[in-house]
Amino acid sequence: LDNGLARTPTMGWLHWERFMCNTNCDADPDNCISERLYMMMADVMAAEGWREAGYQYVCIDDCWMSKSRDAGGRLQADPRRFPGGIKKLADYVHSKGLKLGIYADVGTSTCAGYPGSLAHYDTDAQTFAEWEVDLLKFDGCSMDTTLLEEGYVNMSKALNRTGRPILYSCEWPLYEWPSQKPNYNTIAETCNQWRNFADAYDSWSSVKSILDWTATHQDIIVPSAGPGGWNDPDMLVIGNFGLSRDQQESQMALWAIMAAPLLMSNDLRSICRHSKELLQNRHIIAISQDELGKQGYRTAKVDHFEVWERPLSQGWLAIAVLNALEIGGPRRFSLKAAPGWKTCTPLCNITQILPQYEEVGVQIGHQVSVNPSGTALLVIMPISMKKHDQRFLKMQW
Ligand code: DGJ
Repeated sequence: LDNGLARTPTMGWLHWERFMCNTNCDADPDNCISERLYMMMADVMAAEGWREAGYQYVCIDDCWMSKSRDAGGRLQADPRRFPGGIKKLADYVHSKGLKLGIYADVGTSTCAGYPGSLAHYDTDAQTFAEWEVDLLKFDGCSMDTTLLEEGYVNMSKALNRTGRPILYSCEWPLYEWPSQKPNYNTIAETCNQWRNFADAYDSWSSVKSILDWTATHQDIIVPSAGPGGWNDPDMLVIGNFGLSRDQQESQMALWAIMAAPLLMSNDLRSICRHSKELLQNRHIIAISQDELGKQGYRTAKVDHFEVWERPLSQGWLAIAVLNALEIGGPRRFSLKAAPGWKTCTPLCNITQILPQYEEVGVQIGHQVSVNPSGTALLVIMPISMKKHDQRFLKMQW
């Protein structure tokens, strides 16, 4: 969507995977969906390097609303859990140098049963703009699938009419896939990012199934991504309970390769040092945010390794090698077997980013050792050489 937003993949925090629809603030005041939760996350994001690393949006998901609209037909936040209201929360988040995201649904009710926006698009867009919200995640529950396109397009126009820049996050293709192949041209013109596949859970099988879906459909979905519009493989679950250290590195590396929004769903108040360092790894974030704005793709499956690559600006290339064999120990992979290696003509300058940072330097080939369900991530920079240099090199080798 050409509204000046999401020129690089969105970075921030979104409550759903970790906090879900926990509305029981009496029993669980620190973790229930309430203004306190977002204020605390905003505090941590501003104080502990997240904002500086690029994580900008603090996003509300389902279950923030009151069960009914107000007398004027407007959405309202649950008054017990959001006593200050959303406008004050937005002011607070803005005072921390961050942006606020909110959630609504294209149909008659949200997935958790709160009021939907159908027949209220202009009112709701106007309300969000008045509250000075910066992002809208628009879910697709309780809607006739044949009306999804019309609904999502109309909300996009309604947001545009408010005059406030509001990043528009859609779930339209996810809900359309079971009945028809989505029209990605229209989707990319309408939304800043769009979910295609099932929700991310806190497990490797969930992350792996998202990667598999993405690779299987890459010919359809990769061309539509670029500055202003991104495929959204859902939240980063790094820092929770279900992924090993290697699997966390795999999610981070592959989300950067996929030019995916980096929306963490975890508890930043208690995250461990290793997950924090991974999520704030500036080399991986640089790949994610590369200005060329091309989404990467899987180029090969060799001997239970998956090779993914993402073209970067300046003719550089990011290569991720995932060891998909979930048995045994570390296995070695020779990068000469990676299709992306053709970029090296014949030499490359290599920087290894995962599993640990190392400026490998100028090489003709390189071997990486990858743990089960872990990923090696490298950036390769081609070195162009004149003909006579190449002859010299051949003699040397
Ligand atoms: C389905 C979406 O895919 C999830 O990300 C989340 O927003 C839930 N709905 C909320 O009900």
